[in-house]
Amino acid sequence: MKIAILGGDGFCGWPTTLHLSARGHDVVVVDNFSRRAIGEELGAESLTPIRSLAERRAAWEELTGRSVGFAGIDLARDYEAFLDLLVTERPDAVVHFAEQRAAPFSMKSPRHKRYTVDNNLNATHNVLAAVVESELDVHVVHLGTMGVYGYGTAGMRIPEGYLDVEVPGEGGGVAQQILYPSNPGSIYHMTKVLDQTLFAFYAKNDRLRITDLHQGIIWGTNTRETGLDERLVNRFDYDGDYGTVLNRFLMQAAVGHPLTVHGTGGQTRAFIHIQDMVRCVELALLHAPARGERVKIFNQMTETHRVRDLARLVAELTGAQVETVPNPRQESPENDLHVVHDAFLDLGLRPTTLSEGLLLEVEQTATRWAHRADLSRIPATSLWTRERRAGIPASRTGAAPVGA
Ligand SMILES: NC(=O)c1ccc[n+]([C@@H]2O[C@H](COP(=O)([O-])OP(=O)(O)OC[C@H]3O[C@@H](n4cnc5c(N)ncnc54)[C@H](O)[C@@H]3O)[C@@H](O)[C@H]2O)c1
Repeated sequence: MKIAILGGDGFCGWPTTLHLSARGHDVVVVDNFSRRAIGEELGAESLTPIRSLAERRAAWEELTGRSVGFAGIDLARDYEAFLDLLVTERPDAVVHFAEQRAAPFSMKSPRHKRYTVDNNLNATHNVLAAVVESELDVHVVHLGTMGVYGYGTAGMRIPEGYLDVEVPGEGGGVAQQILYPSNPGSIYHMTKVLDQTLFAFYAKNDRLRITDLHQGIIWGTNTRETGLDERLVNRFDYDGDYGTVLNRFLMQAAVGHPLTVHGTGGQTRAFIHIQDMVRCVELALLHAPARGERVKIFNQMTETHRVRDLARLVAELTGAQVETVPNPRQESPENDLHVVHDAFLDLGLRPTTLSEGLLLEVEQTATRWAHRADLSRIPATSLWTRERRAGIPASRTGAAPVGA
């Protein structure tokens, strides 16, 4: 297949690019490097020393003889350039990773809220409108989030996108299938909820073939391909805005920082290893919906865990201390999460479990690059509302511990 990877310089996009290139697909990356610019704005770099995209592509070609194309396009603003790319390259599929993806960053200020909405919704809508205008039959695969379902306790196993309901009708109950009711917990998650409506419309009106992957939180850093050479290393974010919970714990353990558990740590979240993520994207590409079919939705996750249990697990492995800090987020302090995720397992996914991969990750990434960490970037300081407090450990400020 010829595949355009939108956001192919990012944490998920780069390993996906290499995975698909290694499998013989012809891949072109589209990216505007906004993630690298945000890193500069925040003064927070990847823990791993990532190379420029030009160096990464050259290294991949040197090692494998396979080339990866590149187009520097802002998908939210430069519609014509993206349309030209579609018409010239004629891809079979686009994989759309190109959005601002950090919930804390999206809640920092009105400017960050507006940027996240403008960027994410315009990028998604431009992609869809351009596919229609190109008159090509391009399969659009989008990376969404498990967060569209919300993080309350559902009291049921969350289905893969659609919910069977019965509504009252004149002659009795009428059976329907609806999109599972959305319940976003941040501006970022809200953009993913709105993306879902754009997809439903374009699948219905223009018969676009669309797959939406409701992805859990990624853990891990490298895949088989990014681990081949140091010049291919993937990014690893640990800062309070972009670091995801498990990667943050691993890095905190490596630098001797307490593991910062927000609130009671009773939040349950869905997880997937980065190697499984690239495999899921490949499986989704190989099993596209037909024209005229509704949006195909997969729950792209393999395990659920409570945050305090994860902290305990990492502490047992590494000897780190766990410290409860205020929760900067407006969210349920405790929730259960049960998720249907059979579709990828049925297609052959063999998940990497936390118990197999965690120690390797501590050694190969967190400890290896610990000397590059800037400890001042660790606390989560972006507040959901004025009443919330930053997630700074009392042991570092001299304040009374949470709950004391
Ligand atoms: N990382 C996770 O744990 C996770 C979990 C669930 C879902 N996702 C989703 O997966 C996707 C990728 O996430 P990631 O962690 O790789 O994020 P990332 O920020 O590392 O990568 C996103 C890439 O898209 C690019 N980009 C953003 N806006 C763009 C635009 N307007 N035009 C062109 N390029 C643009 C950025 O420069 C960056 O390289 C996101 O949509 C995210 O919501 C990620």
